[in-house]
Amino acid sequence: MKIIIVGATGTMGKHLTIAFEKEHEVIKAASKGGDIQVDITSAESIENMYNQAGPFDALISTAGPTYVGPWKKMTEKDFKKGIDGKMMGQINLVLIGQHYINPRGSFSLITGALTHDPQKNFANASAANGAVEAFVRAAAIELENGIRINAVSPTVIENSPHYFPFFPGDIPVTMQQLEFGFRKSIFGANTGQVIRL
Ligand SMILES: NC(=O)c1ccc[n+]([C@@H]2O[C@H](COP(=O)([O-])OP(=O)(O)OC[C@H]3O[C@@H](n4cnc5c(N)ncnc54)[C@H](OP(=O)(O)O)[C@@H]3O)[C@@H](O)[C@H]2O)c1
Repeated sequence: MKIIIVGATGTMGKHLTIAFEKEHEVIKAASKGGDIQVDITSAESIENMYNQAGPFDALISTAGPTYVGPWKKMTEKDFKKGIDGKMMGQINLVLIGQHYINPRGSFSLITGALTHDPQKNFANASAANGAVEAFVRAAAIELENGIRINAVSPTVIENSPHYFPFFPGDIPVTMQQLEFGFRKSIFGANTGQVIRL
């Protein structure tokens, strides 16, 4: 299978790349580094990425920039970071990618537990996650040729200890659990699902 991982150089993306490249052709994309450079806030840049990658079977996105910071100081400009990044960036990966993906391919986007379980400083991510999850359900009834789409939604992950203090009481999701959430999305039959970890 040919799998594009957008966000491949990040905490999640590095683990998923190592896990999947044992058995599949993995194309690593990120704004810096990787095999292909892409800025998901630019539709033109996404189009360039797909043109360079060629037809593919699965798209994983672990790229979802958001604003993290104190509520009282948050401005519209700050909030746009998640709207243009985690929300519209991932939506555009699908809207544009549907014209490049092989029949029976799949899109796996990243959201997070913050959709339903908010934490202080993360309102921007909560809102972007909710929009992406609603989009996933809607896109699933529109995509043709057996193309599937799901979101993977973990709470804080074990390789991000700097976030642990922001998620009191949450048991971190292991990297293996994260990987298996993506495995379910890519190799399973479901579509329009939010795979909660
Ligand atoms: N870490 C957690 O505990 C956790 C838990 C639940 C959900 N999440 C969500 O999961 C996602 C990934 O988390 P992570 O911890 O793996 O993040 P990370 O370590 O910061 O990695 C983010 C990746 O996305 C890329 N990226 C960022 N902005 C981009 C852009 N505009 N265009 C293209 N690529 C871009 C980065 O590449 P460059 O460095 O080259 O920009 C990097 O490869 C985030 O949306 C986060 O909200 C994280």
